[in-house]
Formats: sequence, C-alpha cells, structure tokens
Amino acid sequence: ACGSQPSATNQPAKDKKLVVGFAQIGAESEWRTAETNSIKETAEKLGVDLKFSDAQQKQENQIKAIRSFIAQKVDVIALAPVVESGWETVFKEAKDAKIPIILVDRGAKVDESLYTTFIGSDFIQEGKNAAAEMAKLLNNKGNIVELQGTVGASAANDRKKGFEEGLQAFPDMKIIKSQSGDFTRAKGKEVMEAFLKSDGKNIQAVYAHNDDMAIGAIQAIEEYGLKPGVDIKVVSIDGVKGIFEAMAAGKANVTVECNPLLGPQLFDAAKKLAAGEKVERWIKTEEGIFRADTAKEVLPTRKY
Ligand code: AHR
Repeated sequence: ACGSQPSATNQPAKDKKLVVGFAQIGAESEWRTAETNSIKETAEKLGVDLKFSDAQQKQENQIKAIRSFIAQKVDVIALAPVVESGWETVFKEAKDAKIPIILVDRGAKVDESLYTTFIGSDFIQEGKNAAAEMAKLLNNKGNIVELQGTVGASAANDRKKGFEEGLQAFPDMKIIKSQSGDFTRAKGKEVMEAFLKSDGKNIQAVYAHNDDMAIGAIQAIEEYGLKPGVDIKVVSIDGVKGIFEAMAAGKANVTVECNPLLGPQLFDAAKKLAAGEKVERWIKTEEGIFRADTAKEVLPTRKY
C-alpha cells in the first residue's frame, strides 16, 4: 500500500528550497543524538531548510512544534512520536493544511490516512531477536529483569511484546521484574539498583530496551559487587559505540542493532511527497545482531 499525497498546491517550485519541520523527542540516549545528527547533516548536505525542534521528552511540546510548522506552512512535517497515542487531533490539523506527515523511528496509533509513511525498525522483531540471544546465553533457563523504555512509546511497547513472544518457546526463562528506565543511563542505573536490592542473588540476566539503560545497569551491577556480562548477562538494543566498548570489556553480551541514521531516507521520502509522488507505507531499515566476541573488531567500524 502507498501513502496519501499532498495536494499540488503544496508542491515547492523548482528553485524553492524544500522546507521540512522535524519534531524530535529530545536527547535521552546516544542513539537519539546520532539520529539528530544524521537528520541535521543530511539536511545541510541536500540544501533542505530544516526546522528542528527538541521536545525535551514531552508530547505537548511535540504537538506545539507541529502546530508551529503548520503555521509556517512547511512542505513536510516529520516527527519521532515520544508516545504512541494522542496524535489524532494535531495530525488532522496537518492534513487539513495539506501537509504530509512522516513518522520517523517510532510509531503512532492513529488512522493510517493521517500519516504517509513510517521510516524505521521492526521493534517487535528486535525484541524477539533479543529473547533468542538471551536463551543462548542462559542455556534456556534463568531469571531476567527487564528495563523498559519510555512508558507508552512504541519502541518500549513492541520491544516488550516481541521479547515476551520470544520467551514463550523457553518455559524456564522468566521475567521476574520489569520497570521503565525511560531510555536513559541514569534511570537504567537507578531501576537496576532497586532490582538488585530486592532480588540481587536471584537475577541471571538483564534485558534493556536500549543500550544506554544497559550501560546504567552495568554500573549498578558493578557497584553491587557482581560482574556484568558474567554473573548477570546483559542484552540490549541499539548498537551504539558505548555498548560495543562495554562488550569489548566483557561487561555486556549482545546488542540487537537499531539504526538511527535515518536522515537520507527521511529526506528522500520528503522530496517525493512534496513532489506529489507516492512512498512506501513502511520504509524499513536493515539491522544486525552483535555479540561480545566480535565487539573489539567491529567497534572501529561503527558509525554511531
Ligand atoms: O525509538 C528508538 C529508541 O529511542 C532507541 O532505542 C533509544 O535509544 C531511543 O531513545
């Protein structure tokens, strides 16, 4: 299926710069910063007039940014929705103004006619991959604690769902504690400290919805006097340099890649939409799985 198109009146004239408004979530993780850089650098390279807004993790700020983009009559609006729900009204306002919406990296639960395309990863598959890796590390048996991402975010909901689905094949692997660490190092550490305090001797592994929370958890495990990556296995998602360093040091075990370098795909789609062309409904990214044994070798090749 293909995305809905903007009207011809929205089409920029040949010599006019493409104007794109991007409502970013914030700067909660290494991954997010890499995504922001990719989008800014690509805009610069392509000569796109990028209106960038940082919402400081707040949906209300993203909504305000979108309204301001509508008022400025940008050609295309893109956003990484901090949470999945609550977008209906503002997306309708953009549609009434004939400005196409592109979802970047996180999904939104709205009527499909209200956005043109989703550019990003299959978060459910990432969760499933993490569960399969965890099973190998634990020989199919053990207690896992889970550090969830931001409450209500598609990246958190789907990574949880995928992991739970993956675990169904392993009845002796159990999630004994699960709480949000908001995708940040500081929160990941704090929640892991609490898990260790109540269940320390009983935890064989931690599954973190992103690498930053895993890095926070690693610190908590060390301060508790156990060896991360050995006494407590560490599996997370993203593939940022920080986790490759931890894997190279033997403190983390596996990262399931999630590619933040979405700038080129974003502006390719934005150009097409502004020209009245159709785009795919889901522009997927290719991703790998990386384990501690190759971390040293792979680290210098990582781009984020
Ligand atoms: O939406 C993608 C997630 O958001 C990344 O995994 C995480 O690091 C980021 O904050």
